[in-house]
Amino acid sequence: MRKLFIAANWKMNMYHQGAVELIRGIIERTRLLNSIDIMVAPPFTLLETIKSEIQNTHIQLGSQDVFFEESGAYTGEISPGMLLDVGCTHVIIGHSERRQYFHETDEIINKKALAALKNHLVPILCVGETWEERKQGKTFLILNRQILFDLQGIDNEKLSSIVIAYEPVWAIGTGKSATKEQIQEAHSYLREVIKEFASSPEIAYQLRILYGGSMNPKNAQEILSQKDVDGGLIGGASLNIDSFSSLVQIAENVQKMKE
Ligand code: 13P
Repeated sequence: MRKLFIAANWKMNMYHQGAVELIRGIIERTRLLNSIDIMVAPPFTLLETIKSEIQNTHIQLGSQDVFFEESGAYTGEISPGMLLDVGCTHVIIGHSERRQYFHETDEIINKKALAALKNHLVPILCVGETWEERKQGKTFLILNRQILFDLQGIDNEKLSSIVIAYEPVWAIGTGKSATKEQIQEAHSYLREVIKEFASSPEIAYQLRILYGGSMNPKNAQEILSQKDVDGGLIGGASLNIDSFSSLVQIAENVQKMKE
C-alpha cells in the first residue's frame, strides 16, 4: 500500500520571518495527521531555519534543486552532499521551471537524479507536457521520453524509492488544474512505463506518483482519490497555513479511505 505524500514547493518565495510563521502554523495544524508523508522544500537560504523548526515533527525537508558534481569550482551551485549535510532527505529535480527558464535538459536531469541517489537523497522527478504538446496529442510521447531519459542508469533496487511528479506545464500556477480523468490517465501511463523500464510490476506498484498543478483544498479530494495518484506537489497553496494544512487534512482522510 502506497502512503500518500504531500510535498510543498515554496519556489522563490519567503523570507525568514514569514517562513518561520508559515512552518510553525503548519506544524501546529498538522501535528496529529500522521498517516501520510509531508515534505517542505523552501529556498536554499531557508533550509537551515526550516530544519531546526521541523525537528521532532514528522515533516521532512527537501530542496528545490541540486547540482550533480560533489564539490569544486562551480560558483553558485549546491552539491547533493551539502543538502544531506543541512538535513535534506528529498530533492526536486527537473521541475518545468528549471527546464524552461534555466535550459535544463534531460541529460542534466538524469545526472542530477543519479547524483542525488548516490548521496541517499530521494529525487522527486518532475515530468509533464506543455499545452501545445497536449493539443498535438503528444502527451504520452513526452512523458515516455522524459521518464526513460531521466531515469537512465538507475538500478532497480533504487527505483522504487524515487518519487515521480506529474506536472502538466499548462496547469502550473494557472489556477486551472488538469481534470481527474486527465490526471489518472497520465499517472496510469507513467506507472506502465516504469513497469516496462524496471521489468518488475512490484517496483512500479510501490513507486509513488504525485500530481502537481494548481492543486488546492477545493480540488484535492477528487484528485487524491484517483487510483494512481499518491499525493501532490503543491506550489501556490503551500504558501498559506490554512490552504496547506487543509490539503494535508484532506490527504489524511483520503489515505484512510484508500486503506
Ligand atoms: P502550483 O501549485 O502553484 O500550480 O505549482 C505547482 C508546482 O509547480 C509544484 O512544483
